[in-house]
Amino acid sequence: MKAIVVVAAVALVVVLVVTVAGDCTWSQDITSRSWDESVCPEPYILIGNTTCLYISQWGVVRNWSAAQTYCSVYEGELAVINDCALLGEVWTLTQHVLNLTGNFWVGGSDAEAEGSWVWERTVKSVPMGVPFWLPGHPDGDTHENKLMIADNGYFTDGNQTEEHYFICQDFSTLGSITG
Ligand SMILES: *[C@@H]1O[C@H](CO)[C@@H](O)[C@H](O)[C@H]1NC(C)=O
Ligand SMILES: *[C@@H]1O[C@H](CO)[C@@H](O)[C@H](O)[C@H]1NC(C)=O
Ligand SMILES: *[C@@H]1O[C@H](CO)[C@@H](O)[C@H](O)[C@H]1NC(C)=O
Ligand SMILES: *[C@@H]1O[C@H](CO)[C@@H](O)[C@H](O)[C@H]1NC(C)=O
Repeated sequence: MKAIVVVAAVALVVVLVVTVAGDCTWSQDITSRSWDESVCPEPYILIGNTTCLYISQWGVVRNWSAAQTYCSVYEGELAVINDCALLGEVWTLTQHVLNLTGNFWVGGSDAEAEGSWVWERTVKSVPMGVPFWLPGHPDGDTHENKLMIADNGYFTDGNQTEEHYFICQDFSTLGSITG
């Protein structure tokens, strides 16, 4: 479970990424910083100063409910990503440090009421529109009721039966900040 942290640490030495996650720009030199392992319980790492996240590793994909189950094994849930800077940092980490090109399930859903996106944990609204979503999205109607961070850095709606990477969050340590 330490592997993801080690990989990130090794990559930090060699990778300079100045990039954009959708419209949530994350333009810091990521060689100059590290992901803190000391604050969050294993296997979570501190990302964006406030949030304990675990990102699924290469080749580990699950449908939405199986991803939620995976997170619960580590006493977490699919992540709540409410902040543009955090979205930018997560996307930079997944796509450009860990090189996990693909979509990532997070904890949002509109299964209860079509078009009304909420975080399953908090039942609070998922941010809508720019800069989180591309104009015209979500676009999947009742066939796509679960939230992903797409490989273009924006939120997108996905069919819960699809298997994707996923992001778990530990709420026990820093939950009061982000929940
Ligand atoms: C984390 O804190 C640093 C220093 O205060 C700040 O520059 C950076 O924007 C923060 N990162 C996020 C993702 O909020
Ligand atoms: C990710 O890809 C970049 C550029 O292709 C490479 O420099 C880096 O070593 C890769 N990182 C990992 C963890 O494979
Ligand atoms: C998507 O989900 C619906 C149920 O919500 C299901 O009937 C359908 O087969 C799934 N797959 C696609 C590709 O729409
Ligand atoms: C999700 O994956 C699990 C494990 O492979 C499977 O048992 C379950 O039927 C799947 N559920 C959906 C909705 O695809």
